[in-house]
Amino acid sequence: MDKKILVIGAMGQIGSELVLELRKIYGNENVVASGRSSKSPDESSKEKGPFEVIEALDKEQIRKVVEKYKINELYHLAAILSATGEKDPKTAWTINMDSLINVLDLAKEYNLRVFWPSSIAVFGPTTPKKAPQQTVLEPTTMYGITKVAGELLCSYYKDKFGVDVRGLRFPGIISYKTLPGGGTTDYAVEIFYECIKKKEYNCFVSCETTLPMMYMPDCIKSIIQLMQAPKENLKHVCYNVAGISFSAKELADEIKKSISCFKCSHEPDFRQKIADSWPNELDDSEARKDWNWKPDYDLKRMTADMLEKISEKLGKQG
Ligand code: SER
Repeated sequence: MDKKILVIGAMGQIGSELVLELRKIYGNENVVASGRSSKSPDESSKEKGPFEVIEALDKEQIRKVVEKYKINELYHLAAILSATGEKDPKTAWTINMDSLINVLDLAKEYNLRVFWPSSIAVFGPTTPKKAPQQTVLEPTTMYGITKVAGELLCSYYKDKFGVDVRGLRFPGIISYKTLPGGGTTDYAVEIFYECIKKKEYNCFVSCETTLPMMYMPDCIKSIIQLMQAPKENLKHVCYNVAGISFSAKELADEIKKSISCFKCSHEPDFRQKIADSWPNELDDSEARKDWNWKPDYDLKRMTADMLEKISEKLGKQG
């Protein structure tokens, strides 16, 4: 069956790049992008294919689009991330959970295959620092709580109603096209912009803070691969996927190899506590085994590409 895809949250960090890739693979007209507002800084998703305004809390609005385009695959990327979630936990709960249950209900009704991103935020201080696939999930952030509850909800809809829902526990995603919004891992993106603009960066986590990260091309590859994998190969609803783990200092040092005058200082704020609650790395052996996952980017290659692309974007030479 031909794919008819809807991406909710298409203007966000992952969505803006995922839509382009999905359109490349499945054809522009078969991928409907949607965002909360018709006004967006990035017009490219609208120019190249269908665009609809969707407020993910409005189930009937999603239903109309599913019916209009005869959607059979849905990527639900709209969410409040960890740092923003701590400022208004109740809103984070409502947006993250209500939108997910809307999507799962519609998936059950219209037989949609669903992609939903989970996160390293499902883990907490009691999780081993190299997080296994199956382990203790005791997060300390509201965002993490919504991701654990979301994973359980996905499993429930899969077991009880046969919904084909697939998810990935993403590390911090590093990219240059669209900025991340309100996450704890955002420093690994900000550092590149500040380096190109000012040759200095005051990082909001300490130099030894080490978190799992992933470069956007690997993130997109993992989503596409998971969604194309035969259903019978998938043993987990949400898989750990690893990319690159490094400390804030290791990242700054790698940047300095290209821009020697770059200075990185550290002034931890409330996000340090969130970062400290998360593991340093992820064990993604299950993803490697079940659907052949393997990332392409290491720290060196990702850093070189980010510096080049952000210099181009900001119109300056690195
Ligand atoms: N990047 C996310 C955050 O920092 C983690 O999933 O909130």
